[in-house]
Amino acid sequence: MIIALNNKCNLTREEFLKYQEKLENMKELPPMILCPTNLYLGEFRLSNMKLGAQNVSSKGCGAYTGEVSASQLKSIGVAYCIVGHSERREYQKETDQEINEKIKQLLKEGIFPILCVGETKEERERNLTTKKITEELEEATKDLTDQEKQQIIIAYEPIWAIGTGIIPTNDEIKEIMTTIKEVFPNNKVLYGGSANESNIDQLKEITEIDGYLLGGLSLKPENLKIFLEKLKN
Ligand code: PGA
Repeated sequence: MIIALNNKCNLTREEFLKYQEKLENMKELPPMILCPTNLYLGEFRLSNMKLGAQNVSSKGCGAYTGEVSASQLKSIGVAYCIVGHSERREYQKETDQEINEKIKQLLKEGIFPILCVGETKEERERNLTTKKITEELEEATKDLTDQEKQQIIIAYEPIWAIGTGIIPTNDEIKEIMTTIKEVFPNNKVLYGGSANESNIDQLKEITEIDGYLLGGLSLKPENLKIFLEKLKN
């Protein structure tokens, strides 16, 4: 089971260090992937976790002010990187082509991409969920070899479920997971979007889920611990 923690743009440095200490002291936690804000990547000290970034430049090193390249991430120990998160697609207007370029940069450095795909509420209501997700996956993995494709962890995150406290029904999630796995049978597929300690009993019945991408819950270590205990039992 893969558990990735997406801190998004949260915590001051002091808060991050305290947060990290708290996680380190919670001894029985399973191995997870922590994706802090870029600024704190170099502060990562957790013995039982792998380091992930939340974004990467679609270009290599060079005259790209404000960007961070895959080789730079690699040089400080980043092993995973989220790409194509719906917040970046919306606010930074990230295109499928850029996402494809980012994935190529990451794979060149041996960093595992965590590729996010998902539909809006409107797309779901118009029955366009499968089409949207299939297109996003196709575009993001364009020109990649089968071997390269297998390095990608896919995260299905319905946009309307992110940070809202609302999740799809198990049947709805199952359907999308199955669709993704038909095309990508060798990839791990995560669920993300308001997964928490209250709905994990329901979610864990979905056997197609290989793990979770956690946003809000990642910032609450006590609740996260309950979530992980319920997931295990
Ligand atoms: P959430 O975020 O768990 O707060 O809904 C998940 C994500 O955006 O990756």
